[in-house]
Amino acid sequence: MSGEAISGAWPPRSSDAFPRIGRLPAYVLAQVNAEKRARIDAGDDVIDLGMGNPDLATPEHIVNELLTHAADGKHHRYSASRGIYGLREAVAEHYRTRYDVTLDAEEEVVVTIGVKEGITHLMLALLEPGDTVLVPSPVYPIHKYSVLFAGGQVRTIPLVGDDQGNVAGDALLAAVEDAVNSTWPRPKALFLSFPHNPTTLVADRSFLEQAVEVCRRNQLLLIHDFAYADFGFDAEPPSLLQIPGAKEIGVEFFSMSKSYCMPGWRVGFCVGNPAMVQALTRVKSYLDYGIFQPIQIAAAHALRSGQQCVVATRETYRSRRDALVSSLAEAGWPVAPPPATMFMWAPIPGPFLDLDSVEFARLLLRETGVVVSPGAGFGEEGEGHVRFALIEPEDRLREAGERIGRVLRNHASVQRI
Ligand SMILES: Cc1ncc(COP(=O)(O)O)c(C=O)c1O
Repeated sequence: MSGEAISGAWPPRSSDAFPRIGRLPAYVLAQVNAEKRARIDAGDDVIDLGMGNPDLATPEHIVNELLTHAADGKHHRYSASRGIYGLREAVAEHYRTRYDVTLDAEEEVVVTIGVKEGITHLMLALLEPGDTVLVPSPVYPIHKYSVLFAGGQVRTIPLVGDDQGNVAGDALLAAVEDAVNSTWPRPKALFLSFPHNPTTLVADRSFLEQAVEVCRRNQLLLIHDFAYADFGFDAEPPSLLQIPGAKEIGVEFFSMSKSYCMPGWRVGFCVGNPAMVQALTRVKSYLDYGIFQPIQIAAAHALRSGQQCVVATRETYRSRRDALVSSLAEAGWPVAPPPATMFMWAPIPGPFLDLDSVEFARLLLRETGVVVSPGAGFGEEGEGHVRFALIEPEDRLREAGERIGRVLRNHASVQRI
């Protein structure tokens, strides 16, 4: 067995001495975060729209189900790493009623400790060191880092959209085929994720059909992250598994974090291709003992109860989106309303085009107290944009727009002098 030596002094003095960690790119948000912390510590009124961390409380019926079971000592033992049967069956039922998709709760569903954990361990299960994975970019970072953690290589594919907020599907799939034909060894897998974070782009069923066809033809495994399944404002986003043949080559990840306002509970699922699901199940059987059982019971309850709470959450994000779009438009920063997700992906406005996204995010924080995510945090292709997360109430989003408007107007008048 050979491997890269620990670099630098012995004993190691920094985490970067470990080659796999040293190869991870610098965390671009660190600088913005440090400045944010300093402003909060100084008592400033910071409007934090940086991280996609939902602020809405988990619906009461789900919390009550947890409380009912949390006190029962029989649930305090290790649970099942692949998730209790009742939860896997609730997921299968959810796919049946919602998408008319049949899943075998034994072979085709595994519970994960959130989608992030699931994706990371799926890559560990599927990849050999040096395997290449195709990842559209801008990218939700774990789609890329999971591959790096597993010792694989990432080949990014530019992700672009049309004026209506749809993915430019033909261009994306042509780039996938180009990458397959020009990369050796041949890429092993493709990540997709629609509705998309951070760009908010959506994909329709015909795009997913073409994507399945391209993956079949090129022997690519397909991994679809469906974290924003419930956040299409104009049309219901399709599940990958609704596409005939998708289950033969792919899996889908679904999360309780956004749809049921349960980000801190850490519950997600990987469903679909039995070989891939079982590979992840095997890895997890070595690594964890399952989520605290009352949480799993409450998650099953959430999936099996009425879904009005999901609709209410989506409508809250829609109103917030509208509030931010209109206050930014009044501020002189027109941004097209996103068709989906809980984000806005905004091109850096004209007067600040000489700044990169980190510099612009820092300027916004310094001059307005509004925190946004710099686009560069989502890969090079995200440069030139910032992302707003809709995680504050409407009045705070309007206040953010007003503060930004003052800076834009100030800047414009300074330029005229
Ligand atoms: C595309 C995408 N996938 C996954 C996640 C995280 O999901 P989970 O909380 O289930 O790990 C997020 C959270 O922001 C996301 O945007």
